Amino acid sequence: KFYENFIDGKRWEYILDGLGVTLEVTFFAVIIGIVLGFLIAIVRSTYDKTGKLKILNVLCKVYLTVIRGTPVVVQLLIIYFVIFGSSDISKVLVAIMAFGLNSGAYVAEIFRSGIMSVDNGQFEAGRSLGFNYVQTMIHIIMPQAFKNVLPALGNEFIVLLKETSVSGYIALQDLTKGGDIIRSRTYDAFMPLIGIALVYLVMVMIFTKLVNMLERRLRNSDH
Ligand code: ARG
Repeated sequence: KFYENFIDGKRWEYILDGLGVTLEVTFFAVIIGIVLGFLIAIVRSTYDKTGKLKILNVLCKVYLTVIRGTPVVVQLLIIYFVIFGSSDISKVLVAIMAFGLNSGAYVAEIFRSGIMSVDNGQFEAGRSLGFNYVQTMIHIIMPQAFKNVLPALGNEFIVLLKETSVSGYIALQDLTKGGDIIRSRTYDAFMPLIGIALVYLVMVMIFTKLVNMLERRLRNSDH
């Protein structure tokens, strides 16, 4: 009875505060992931095309292998308990770093495949028009590559949004943890868990819609 009274006025707080944390972590992690992924993709495809940046390319490869070869939960735990184990860093910050670093590896491969999807003739055409390597990349390759990777990038955002639900492993109160706290204190599993599932679902559906609209607009601008 005590817990029921205790939790009653607070249920929405757990959901809303949790949602806020989930959105905050996802937002900043996506930004880190895109910046990091972009830089890595540039290094990797520059090496592929010109043979330059050899050492950086090796470092990027190591990063990609380690990040994609281990579960994101384990990475989150290592960053929180091993790397920042002796400092009282904010959990939100740890989560942003962990998911950002994780996403960067996947985004790098998305961008790289986008760059590779542009026919090499486009690259040669740019160079023969007098553009140097950087200009060709910026004006000819990137705009086409971006259009090609948009669906995959949208998907990465959705994966990341849902993946933040493991934040509870470091006792960060995100949406999932918030719902689970309600479950554990009220002994009612149905409402809080189905509730948060619906919140995720609605967010993903709204975002999917937005990406589809952007995709259509970019496709129309082709003609
Ligand atoms: N659940 C998988 C893992 O633990 C996927 C990680 C996140 N994936 C992503 N595209 N950011 O490794």
